[in-house]
Amino acid sequence: MTKMLITAGPTREYIDPVRYLSNASSGKMGYALASAGIKLGCDVTLISGPVSLEVPKDVKLIPVETAREMQIACFKHFKSADVIIMSAAVCDYRPLVKSKNKIKKNGKNFNLKLVQNPDILTSLGKKKGKDQTLVGFSLETNDLIKNANKKLFSKKCDFIIANMSKAVGSNYNKVWLLSKNGDVVNIPKMSKDDLSMVILSYILK
Ligand code: CTP
Repeated sequence: MTKMLITAGPTREYIDPVRYLSNASSGKMGYALASAGIKLGCDVTLISGPVSLEVPKDVKLIPVETAREMQIACFKHFKSADVIIMSAAVCDYRPLVKSKNKIKKNGKNFNLKLVQNPDILTSLGKKKGKDQTLVGFSLETNDLIKNANKKLFSKKCDFIIANMSKAVGSNYNKVWLLSKNGDVVNIPKMSKDDLSMVILSYILK
C-alpha cells in the first residue's frame, strides 16, 4: 500500500497569545489530495494547519499550528512515506519573540521583528531517499513557470505543481505540473477534487 504524507493549510505565527501572522490558505487543495489518495487505496497522513474543513474518512490527521510544529511532524513521518506532497502555505517568517502576555497599545507605532522560518520542503529534499517521490507546490503572482522551475531544482523535488495566487481559497484550480525530467503538463482549470485525481494519476505512475 502506497504511504502518502500530505501537508495542507496555512501556518500561524504567534505575536502574543491571541494574535498571529498567517495567510489566506483554505487547505482545500491538500484535503482534496488526501481524499483522492484514499480513493486510490493509499494510506494517507495529513499534517494540517488550522482550517475549517472536514477531515476525509480514513485519513490520519496531525493538526499543527506553526511552521516549526509542521516541520517536526514532517520529520517524524517523512521516512516511512513513499509519496510526500507539500501543499501547505507555510509562513516564511515568524515574530522573533512571542510575547507571553497580550501586548498593550501605547499610542506609538509598533515594530515587529521577523525571522525566517525553516523551509520544510528544502530540508526534506536533502533527506529524500531514491524511492521516495517528493512533490512541492509553487504559488506565484508572476513568472509562474520560471519561478516554479527554480523551486523544482532548488528544493530537489520530483514534481512541482505551479499555480497562481487566485487558487487560494477557491474550489477550483488551474495548474502546471513540472517534472524533474523537464516535462511540463498543462492541466486545465477544474475542481480541486477532480484535479487531485489527475495530479495523483501523474505522480503515482
Ligand atoms: N514550503 C515549505 N516551507 C516553507 C515555505 C514553503 O515547506 N517555509 C513549501 C510549500 O509547502 C510549497 C513550496 O515550499 O510546497 C513552495 O512554497 P511557495 O510559498 O510557493 O514558495 P516559497 O518557497 O515560500 O518561496 P517564495 O515565497 O520566495 O515564492
